[in-house]
Amino acid sequence: IAFFQKDTIMISEWVSYMMFYLLATVFCAVLTYCMYVHHVHQKYDHIPGPPRDSFLLGHIPTFSRGAKSDNLVQDLFLQWAEKYGPVYRLNSFHYVVIKVHCPEATKTILMSPKYTKDPFVYKRLFNLFGKRFLGNGLVTAMDHDDWYRQRRIMDPAFSSTYLRSLMGTFNEMSERLMDHLEEIADTKTPVIMHDLVNCVTLDVICKAAFGVDLNLFKQTDSPFQKAVEQCLKGMVFYLRDPFFRLFPKNWKTVQQTKDATELLRKTGNKWIQKRKTAIENGEDVPKDILTQILKTAGMWDSNTETLKNHELMLDNFVTFFIAGQETTANQLSFAIMELGRHPEIYKRAKAEVDEILGTKINIPYEDLGKFTYLSQVLKETLRLYPTAPGTSRWLHEDMVINGLKIPGSCAFSSYVSQRLGKFFKDPLKFDPERFDVNAPKPYYCYYPFALGPRTCLGQVFSQMEAKVVLAKLLQRFEFSLVPGQSFDIKDTGTLRPKSGVICNIKHCS
Ligand code: HEM
Repeated sequence: IAFFQKDTIMISEWVSYMMFYLLATVFCAVLTYCMYVHHVHQKYDHIPGPPRDSFLLGHIPTFSRGAKSDNLVQDLFLQWAEKYGPVYRLNSFHYVVIKVHCPEATKTILMSPKYTKDPFVYKRLFNLFGKRFLGNGLVTAMDHDDWYRQRRIMDPAFSSTYLRSLMGTFNEMSERLMDHLEEIADTKTPVIMHDLVNCVTLDVICKAAFGVDLNLFKQTDSPFQKAVEQCLKGMVFYLRDPFFRLFPKNWKTVQQTKDATELLRKTGNKWIQKRKTAIENGEDVPKDILTQILKTAGMWDSNTETLKNHELMLDNFVTFFIAGQETTANQLSFAIMELGRHPEIYKRAKAEVDEILGTKINIPYEDLGKFTYLSQVLKETLRLYPTAPGTSRWLHEDMVINGLKIPGSCAFSSYVSQRLGKFFKDPLKFDPERFDVNAPKPYYCYYPFALGPRTCLGQVFSQMEAKVVLAKLLQRFEFSLVPGQSFDIKDTGTLRPKSGVICNIKHCS
């Protein structure tokens, strides 16, 4: 018994020592980490910025409150830019991001291939809550050479010759919207324009990029719109609130986001296989985005069947599905909203469309360049409502911006820059005249499609599409906003009108 008691005492002593060392190790680790965070604060605190919510969390609580509430986090960034100037700092744990709204610095950094995308943001988008999402696709590729090879492979699907050949698709898909509006015009049934233009842009991207006709005006229960929306919504929580997935109340959203991501990747897999079979059978396939995506598979080695190559194809499939649809739909919805709010701008845009189109049903490519005022309306729409509101870069070497030494991660918000009074007079006024050919060009303070080598690949595609939809709408129908709706902006990963833009539709008198 004595031997047994001695043994028990020894074990409990040993456990106490272990506990002590464990606690001491944890304490030392926390202390070391806190000292590191303190060191980071010292390194960056010469840069002005709003007070931190807490030493460790920095500004995270403000962001997660913003993500949950209806307040637009971009408006907070704008207020801070007005208060703290063109360069200010935001903290989360040991990570610091520098918000920059200086035209010279914007030019130097965004126009140079030297500065890669910020890994803190873009590496995280590799996965969404553990499910592979944008991976190493075009938007998120970090390594310059990997990105450059992909971009060169994708270029032919955005050449002017190829884009010109897409006019048929832009016209056809917009006609479906016109047919739909034809049925409800003059019935005094209000329509949510955002939902309708969303169907057009999704139909367009699926047909133009992947050769698949969804025909969403006929097929009302398509899961794709919801999936894209869910991924974008999940992305906001995932990026802004690192603790989001820890709380049981959020698990449903987490699961829905994972399911949506899975649906997009599975669809990609199916459509890619179908295209491969068509090529193997010697069928004539379009030189569209999907054909180019198949070519990215040979980037690293000639064996196109490796898992790495296959996953990259899926990354780019999801990338185009996400990047190529909501952004344009939101731009169209905001444009319709602003036209509805400004009868004189509406009248001028309609007069231009009537003069150029007359009673033409199909809009030819040659006419797109003639829509001068309509282009100004679309540009001004993206000034006030940049639907993809920013980008960020990693500065691998110190740089002096606005007299301040800046190391590390820089974020550029087009929303903030395009709403600052020092760059745009009376910034909240919707005024397409700002983009008149004779008006001074904005100097590195207007960048709704980003700038430099990582500028949007689909810029021309999206604006051709937007012009066709808007011109047809103005030509055929009169739309007016249903009174009492909100003109606020909602951040669901991209910026969109909160109300959905509810309109009454009439035939043109
Ligand atoms: C109004 C519509 C659009 C807006 C406002 C917009 C905006 C942007 C912005 C701001 C970026 C940079 C993102 C970043 O740095 O994180 C970007 C990148 C990109 N966008 Fe768009 N976009 C639009 C439409 C489209 C369309 C229709 C497509 C495809 C058909 C597309 C494909 C891409 C791609 C592939 C990239 C990555 C480019 C690269 O890094 O090489 N976008 N877009």
